[in-house]
Amino acid sequence: MTNQNNVIKFYSGEQIPVELHKVRMVQKLFLKPIEERKAAMEEAGFNTFLLSTKDVFLDMLTDSGTNAMSDNQISSMLQADDAYAGSQSFYRMEKALREVFGKHYVLPAHQGRAAENIVSQAFIKKGEVIPMNYHFTTTKEHMELNGGKVLEIYADDALQIKSDKPFKGNIDIDKLKDVFSTYGKEKVAFVRMEASTNLIGGQPFSMQNMRDVKKICEENETMMVLDASLIGENAWFIKQREEEFKNAEIKDILLEMCSYADLVYFSSRKVSSTRGGGIVTNSKDLYMKMRDLLVLYEGFLTYGGMSVREIEAMAVGLNETCDETVISQSPSFIAYAVNELDAAGVPVITPPGALGCHIDAMGFLPHVPQTDYPAGALATALFIISGIRGMERGTISSVRDENGDDIPADVELLRLAFPRRVFTLSQTKFVIDRVKWLFENRELVGGLEWIEEPPLLRFFMGRLKAKGNWPEKLMAKFKEDFGESL
Ligand code: F0G
Repeated sequence: MTNQNNVIKFYSGEQIPVELHKVRMVQKLFLKPIEERKAAMEEAGFNTFLLSTKDVFLDMLTDSGTNAMSDNQISSMLQADDAYAGSQSFYRMEKALREVFGKHYVLPAHQGRAAENIVSQAFIKKGEVIPMNYHFTTTKEHMELNGGKVLEIYADDALQIKSDKPFKGNIDIDKLKDVFSTYGKEKVAFVRMEASTNLIGGQPFSMQNMRDVKKICEENETMMVLDASLIGENAWFIKQREEEFKNAEIKDILLEMCSYADLVYFSSRKVSSTRGGGIVTNSKDLYMKMRDLLVLYEGFLTYGGMSVREIEAMAVGLNETCDETVISQSPSFIAYAVNELDAAGVPVITPPGALGCHIDAMGFLPHVPQTDYPAGALATALFIISGIRGMERGTISSVRDENGDDIPADVELLRLAFPRRVFTLSQTKFVIDRVKWLFENRELVGGLEWIEEPPLLRFFMGRLKAKGNWPEKLMAKFKEDFGESL
């Protein structure tokens, strides 16, 4: 690891990520006995989204809206200017967005998917295609609702679990050229690039790839859209992994990334460690195509469904995204966990990415067929043995085809999110220990089957059950090994 000011070396030679912040407000946690954790999982229909946080020890479901806020963010909330229209809070956020993303026109939205709704309604017509590095769940739904078709054009080896490729989030340029020659530029609604590509393990793209994509977009007079929800971490990876940028400032990397996009949208639940979202552009024409939809769906132009308190904190949080010690904290803890698990033989996505540590459930549970949802099974097993709540990112998060058959996900992942500056190193060590134990005892874990399956975004509200009595067997082995320890 080079150039990382938050990774320190001990006298023994061991390197650890150190917390470059102090904890000034805390929330009490409970670690319940395994019998209660198992009962809570049954109650939740073997779906970690349906757990109540009173039963959860380490909540690694997501970083969305759960990053720690800074003292400066919290204090800024006190100066919020409550007004339906013309709030000073909005103008402060607008100024921050102009400075950090370099875009003049700002459309606030209540969260990232609200921005996706507006962008999809404004720019996708029935029958058009949207090439991208990889989809995100809500993104794809909004695009399809508007008659668009998502085309994923990542490099052939981007989904390889174990890899040393620094930029698995890159768009494959030849495939992008093929899209334009196959469909014709008039059928391409826009090209989308997602920073720190979420569903393939938080993997970044390089600046060079953005430049190459932009060139093709220009040649084809097609708009480039950037999903900037995880742009801070992507910028940090560019600094770490792309030679040209090793001495660059994060703020300059962010500005260059955004300069290639005609339109940038984001979930500020991630990017600025707040709640909310938005869309920015330098084109008045694009702005005018979205403006009236925004007022219809989100609220007036100076709040867009957000509380003014969040808007104030967002302005501060956006500036903090340019601070390397803030933006590197989550990736360096993820790298620590990934490297420890990888060394123990646990199949994890490498190189370590943003957002979380991603465990390859098909590699972890090779005896559980994909039709029995290995990623969902792994998420539930880990919760039962540790109180750690992760998120299934596999076939349960996918959809069925027109015949009603599951479309198997490209990868079956259990995502253990590391929200920024939330967990300590001893908590991280607990995660590593319990995952290693589960790996040693993996043959005890079986599959899942549906009890209730909603037709849309089934992973949020669907209920499942264990196939067979594997949770009982797993609990018995845990008690044998750990005795009375939680
Ligand atoms: N785009 C990306 C890349 C995301 O990761 C998310 C949300 C969204 C858009 C939607 O934003 O939640 O504010 O509506 N990701 C969350 C996650 C939900 O857990 O990864 P939102």
